[in-house]
Amino acid sequence: MRTRQGTALVTGASSGIGAAYARRLAGRGWDTLLVARRAQRLEDLAERLREVTDTTVETLVSDLSDPDDLARVVRRAADGDVGFLLNNAGINGYGPFAELEPQLMTKVVDINVRAVTALTRAALPAMLQQGRGTVVNVASQLAFAGALPPHPLPERAVYAGTKGYVVTFTRTLAAELAGTPLRVQVLCPGLTATEFHRSRGEEPVPGRDESVHEDGGMPVGQVVDASEAALENGEVVCVPGLRDPAPIDGLAEAELAIRTAARRSGG
Ligand SMILES: NC(=O)c1ccc[n+]([C@@H]2O[C@H](COP(=O)([O-])OP(=O)(O)OC[C@H]3O[C@@H](n4cnc5c(N)ncnc54)[C@H](OP(=O)(O)O)[C@@H]3O)[C@@H](O)[C@H]2O)c1
Repeated sequence: MRTRQGTALVTGASSGIGAAYARRLAGRGWDTLLVARRAQRLEDLAERLREVTDTTVETLVSDLSDPDDLARVVRRAADGDVGFLLNNAGINGYGPFAELEPQLMTKVVDINVRAVTALTRAALPAMLQQGRGTVVNVASQLAFAGALPPHPLPERAVYAGTKGYVVTFTRTLAAELAGTPLRVQVLCPGLTATEFHRSRGEEPVPGRDESVHEDGGMPVGQVVDASEAALENGEVVCVPGLRDPAPIDGLAEAELAIRTAARRSGG
């Protein structure tokens, strides 16, 4: 007999970190609501989860950069049963900024920023009302390191900017919700073994392999392990692979120092 946890909405569940997290959540007794564009991938995962867990799995084939599709997912997120929201879908749109197609640029912002914000807004009221709920927003180490040289060249201003938004949005929301029982986390993976770098995000990635990153990267299971451990420990910023949290504490200290120094000088 499983312990019924509620429903976990996972965006970008058709591959990589999202698929791994969905498997983990279903294994822990969560009913899952899987969102992505590739219907067959979602169905395959749904079938597998139903086979190996006693959970309900729902799929919602949606392009989160499409306003009508996003509205549909937002409506579903606001239904009141979503107790775990994993905002994971993301695309990179890498390339020299001055050459970036405006349509792709908009898409990166729509998926990485607009959808994350809208879905969090949709799911939160019921979580607050029920006095329990978890939001995990997937950012990237590039939120901190996007501008750092030397390799690869930082031709990722929009991507890093969107992930910077996710970090600031989530940290600030976590501060706002600090007096509540809700758990809020921004997950900042480094290079991870997924399909992420196969495409800039325009087209669904073909193929069925799970670990196809040319340069290796952290296995998705370890990213999920780190996120779960950080949730247990109440850590808002989770950087998989970072054993000593000192640099994250240092970030907050630097922010405080900037504010304090600027106030002192009347800024
Ligand atoms: N892999 C890395 O090195 C790395 C590092 C740091 C952060 N991240 C972040 O981790 C998250 C997950 O990426 P991943 O590494 O697991 O890559 P992935 O295997 O490419 O997964 C991306 C997921 O997002 C979905 N997606 C893309 N565009 C979408 C759209 N328009 N509408 C709905 N879903 C869409 C994809 O599904 P469909 O194609 O089926 O729509 C897929 O399920 C992203 O937010 C990424 O920025 C990845």
